[in-house]
Amino acid sequence: MTAKLKVAVVISGGGSNLKALIAAAAQPGAAFEVTHVFCNRPGAGGLAHAAAAGIPTMVIDHKGFSSRGAFDAALDTALRTAEPDIVALAGFMRILTAPFIESWRGKMTNIHPSLLPLYKGLHPHRQALEAGATMHGCTVHWVTPGVDEGPIIAQAEVPILPGDTEETLQARTLIAEHKLYAQALTMIANGEASFPPSSS
Ligand code: GRF
Repeated sequence: MTAKLKVAVVISGGGSNLKALIAAAAQPGAAFEVTHVFCNRPGAGGLAHAAAAGIPTMVIDHKGFSSRGAFDAALDTALRTAEPDIVALAGFMRILTAPFIESWRGKMTNIHPSLLPLYKGLHPHRQALEAGATMHGCTVHWVTPGVDEGPIIAQAEVPILPGDTEETLQARTLIAEHKLYAQALTMIANGEASFPPSSS
């Protein structure tokens, strides 16, 4: 039995992606395990999902730090102690500094609710609707210093239906996200996805 991929999940809010990853990791034969959960917001709903599964959690409240760099340094120290194979950002709503991201190059993933490179940044569902798109979706990618810019690991398409609102499209996309992240981590665990060698 090869060792499971150790995943630390970093959240900010409700943690529906975290909940889905915990459920996927509990399946027989799962290729990854969620070993730690970190959160930048005290009282975030996602912390309850980790607690219910007996997964250690740590809150690092970004309001307690004088700069982005200082917060990132605290998160880095905590992550180094956890020693994950992968740091999975899931509903994590802070911009991380380039030095922090570089120190986790090839080990940090994120999920974004659009078919990147379309609709980066905030309100991607609204962007898609305003663009008149008929197809939307979600992307799991390696994290690089540019926001929502890193090499793509996996994507899933979600149709935009007549009458869709930002809310209905977001709800439909989340269902796809909850499957996609587990699939992406399984690909990494199986050696089917790795950070591309630098072109230089
Ligand atoms: C999700 O759409 C995620 O892709 C985005 O934030 C939303 C909420 O995530 N980054 P979660 O429910 O907290 O996992």
